[in-house]
Amino acid sequence: MRPMIAPAIGLGVGALVAFSAAVTAQAAPPTDWSNIPTATVKLFYPGQGGDEWLRSSAHKRAYKKVLAGDSCVSCHEGEEQELGEALVVEGRLEPTPIEGKNPTVDLQVQVAYDTENAYFRFRWKTQMDRAGQMHNYLRFDGEKWEIYGGPRSSGKVRSGAQPPLYEDRLTMMIDDGSVPMFAEQGCWLTCHTGMRDMTGEPTKEEIAANPILGAGGLKKKDIRKYLPLSRTDDISTWDATKLAEEIAALKAEGQFVDLMQWRAARSAPVGMADDGYVLEYRLFDAGKKPFSWNLDKKTMTPRFMFDAGKVGMKAITVADIGDPTKPYAIIKEENAVPYDPDAGWKEGDVLPGRLLTRTGASGSAADNSEVTSEWKDGLWTVVWARPLDTGHPEDDKAIEDGKAYSFGFAVHDDNVTTRFHFVGFPLSIGFGTEGDIQATRLP
Ligand code: HEC
Repeated sequence: MRPMIAPAIGLGVGALVAFSAAVTAQAAPPTDWSNIPTATVKLFYPGQGGDEWLRSSAHKRAYKKVLAGDSCVSCHEGEEQELGEALVVEGRLEPTPIEGKNPTVDLQVQVAYDTENAYFRFRWKTQMDRAGQMHNYLRFDGEKWEIYGGPRSSGKVRSGAQPPLYEDRLTMMIDDGSVPMFAEQGCWLTCHTGMRDMTGEPTKEEIAANPILGAGGLKKKDIRKYLPLSRTDDISTWDATKLAEEIAALKAEGQFVDLMQWRAARSAPVGMADDGYVLEYRLFDAGKKPFSWNLDKKTMTPRFMFDAGKVGMKAITVADIGDPTKPYAIIKEENAVPYDPDAGWKEGDVLPGRLLTRTGASGSAADNSEVTSEWKDGLWTVVWARPLDTGHPEDDKAIEDGKAYSFGFAVHDDNVTTRFHFVGFPLSIGFGTEGDIQATRLP
């Protein structure tokens, strides 16, 4: 049994994680990270420069090489700052910039491993001077509940009708060499025309008609990341999906990218990160992830409210959002009771829009259950233990001693989602072998 690590959590959730009796010296993150080398990976703002643009003649003097599989860094090594500065402002690849946004983020990465886990320690500076530990909320307007807040990119936030409220995130993608060109082109392989906030977004009806993604398949309403190998045409059009049995065969062969996200509001309060993968879509692993909507979309009422007996209040108010002394996460097994419509709700009462659970998370979707995080003095520190082999090869990549893996990192900072993030060129991490970053073997 792996030890559990107490997460950095909000009020009223301190008793959440019990330490396992089976803690052994090996299976725990380094107590002193100062002995583990730190690599600084510069992540930059990518705009709408997705896979199709990179492989089109608009990517002058480069697209033929990109098509041939050359790596981004073969031409752009050390250009992250320049690229970020060019792309974060209005231009051909950014029609709707976010004013004042930073062009890059320096992600400090440390990696260690033992016989059971890989341990990652990430640190980065946030643009906001508080933790981005809030997400959509539910606000009572005197008569009914409404969704309150959203990402900076949304129309209602740009117009000033709603405040910017969206969690910080850290994403890692891993491939073991199964996905052609991931080592060279990384995250960009998964980013396509038609995706949310990219050009050429299809209508809901068009998506519904697609046999894999639509009404008869995954029942999606928008397009998210996918790999070119899940499509039939040369330019990996969102709609040119392979047949269900072909996709299942690719998945069985490990031709997917592992993708997991630490989410400041939706997973960190329960000491977890989510666990997903990218193949024909960005999907969660099998099982139950740690978060769901705290909203009954039929009645448009919250599903749970705070347990006043435990946290001193049934709800917070708009003014409390971002106040570190107020509860910010509603956790089913810890500080929540079912919503009572007759509890005397007042205008301006606020509840988190998402319901978290650690004990209710299960299966492969719950593999990242040892993640601690802290925001202090403008800096996030996330320490993340990932089992080398999760035991779920159907949707995870296993890490073996003696091998190197391709990683892609991204950070969503300052109330944004989708492409408004920072992304790094792919790099290799060697476990017991060479790599751009060499993981430190723990005794
Ligand atoms: C063969 C060299 C080469 C390769 C490989 C290459 N690029 Fe480029 N890239 C260029 C050149 C040259 C330009 C400038 C062309 C232009 O501005 O029209 C450029 C421009 C860009 C721009 C636009 C920057 C701006 O200021 O608007 C982005 C974004 C970009 N590349 C990303 C990538 C990514 C991501 C990859 C890997 C998938 C990649 N490139 C691979 C040579 C390359």
